[in-house]
Amino acid sequence: MRLPASTRDVPIPTDPIALVIGQDEAVRAARIAAKQRRHLLLVGPPGTGKSMLAQAVAYLLPKPTHEVSVLHNPENPERPIVEVRDASKLAEERTRAKNAGKLLPVHDVPVFVTEKLGFRCRRCAKLSAPTASVCPSCGADKYRRSSSPFDDLVFSAAGEMLEERVHTTRTLPNGKEELVAYETAENGKIRMLTEKEMKEAESSGKRRPRKVILPLNRSTFIQATGASETELLGDIKHDPYGGHPEAGIAPYLRVVPGAIHEAHEGVLFIDEIPTLGYLQRFILTAMQEKRFPISGRNATSTGAAVRVDNVPCDFIFIGAMNAADISSVLPPLRNRIIGDGYEVLLSTTMPDTEENREKLIQFAAQEIIKDGKIPHMDSGGLEALLAEARERARAIDEKSNALTLRMRGLSGLIKLAGDLAVLDGSELITAKHVTQAREKALTIEEQLSSRYDQWWKAGMSDYGMRKRQGRESEVA
Ligand SMILES: Nc1ncnc2c1ncn2[C@@H]1O[C@H](COP(=O)(O)OP(=O)(O)OP(=O)(O)O)[C@@H](O)[C@H]1O
Ligand SMILES: [Mg+2]
Repeated sequence: MRLPASTRDVPIPTDPIALVIGQDEAVRAARIAAKQRRHLLLVGPPGTGKSMLAQAVAYLLPKPTHEVSVLHNPENPERPIVEVRDASKLAEERTRAKNAGKLLPVHDVPVFVTEKLGFRCRRCAKLSAPTASVCPSCGADKYRRSSSPFDDLVFSAAGEMLEERVHTTRTLPNGKEELVAYETAENGKIRMLTEKEMKEAESSGKRRPRKVILPLNRSTFIQATGASETELLGDIKHDPYGGHPEAGIAPYLRVVPGAIHEAHEGVLFIDEIPTLGYLQRFILTAMQEKRFPISGRNATSTGAAVRVDNVPCDFIFIGAMNAADISSVLPPLRNRIIGDGYEVLLSTTMPDTEENREKLIQFAAQEIIKDGKIPHMDSGGLEALLAEARERARAIDEKSNALTLRMRGLSGLIKLAGDLAVLDGSELITAKHVTQAREKALTIEEQLSSRYDQWWKAGMSDYGMRKRQGRESEVA
């Protein structure tokens, strides 16, 4: 087989799934999972590409099309209401709001309104953009933002709450009074709405107090560790004033989504499923119902009284784990995955064919580019790397004529060889660097056994023990 002169000449695919090497079956399952929204259980030893596959599935998914908010429920504030709006409806609402009313230049708006909306300085009366919190003419504070993480209220320098919208009346030519509202619009103008237009905007739901818990523009890859229930299932934050209408923070503002909710329309990835323990049950319910309530999970918190029902959580579940731990996965969870997805055992070696050697060379190129700090590898270096992959397949998995797929280890070797090449001032990683790296990359156990021939003897000499005639050891 002719090796490329260096990894610089090796093309790298742009599709993230094609970067996963040697796991043909898992790759096939991952493609289907992304296309058909199926669950996946990836079983295999560390560093064989499980996390990589999960990320690739998330990358292949279309962007989320639904925004999820919780709305204030005036009848029962402890039961905020969920609202799901799809992208097209949101866009429609936005244009409707944009076209409502009449745009006025700031000069045509009463002075007190421009002050309240943050256009005019109350000290020098000069106009400036409402986004500037300090008056550019006299340096006075126009407003300050609330320091609370729960709201985005804005106060005037005098401490008065600034409004997004100012209500007032105007006198019509026929002498009648009419209610009007002014609000900040784009291009430094102010929008004026009549009572009728206000009602319309309200009915479109735009004005209802809300907290967007899942914005449209969110990641499709959510990794949960299962470290706590709240991380996975969400929570309602504590408010020492118990959400009191004046002193406290309204319950809907305290709703925090869990990983299962954040993964709505995306991938929920759980590395090491066994660490989830009893939390697996909740995942199972969430997978079945595709909705899961958010409630306060701390009985002593004022959040415990609050619950939001029907929060959507329609995710693709991808779990990863070691084969040895398969018995600690809840049978109904596995059942759920088998019923609506795939369980895949990852391979640890691949046959030593020309095609697979090429893949391993692509892997070397990928890792070098991903690392970004090391030079490319020449053909001699690649030869040595292939030899090492063969050796590892034999030593770890007892396979001859095979190449290892325990890639994290190989990746470490490439980086170490790269660092040695950098130290050398070499333009490419050569066979010499790979061989040196192999020697340096030995684990502590391997280093010990090469130095003391059996690693446990090192421990003995550290504690002043030594081998005496006939007897294995004895405290000196
Ligand atoms: N099949 C593979 N193809 C290409 N690169 C791989 C492959 N497997 C692992 N790698 C490399 O090793 C790194 C670690 O892989 P990954 O995190 O996907 O392993 P994992 O199977 O999730 O391991 P763990 O069980 O320790 O979480 C990747 O970033 C990648 O550089
Ligand atoms: Mg991983």
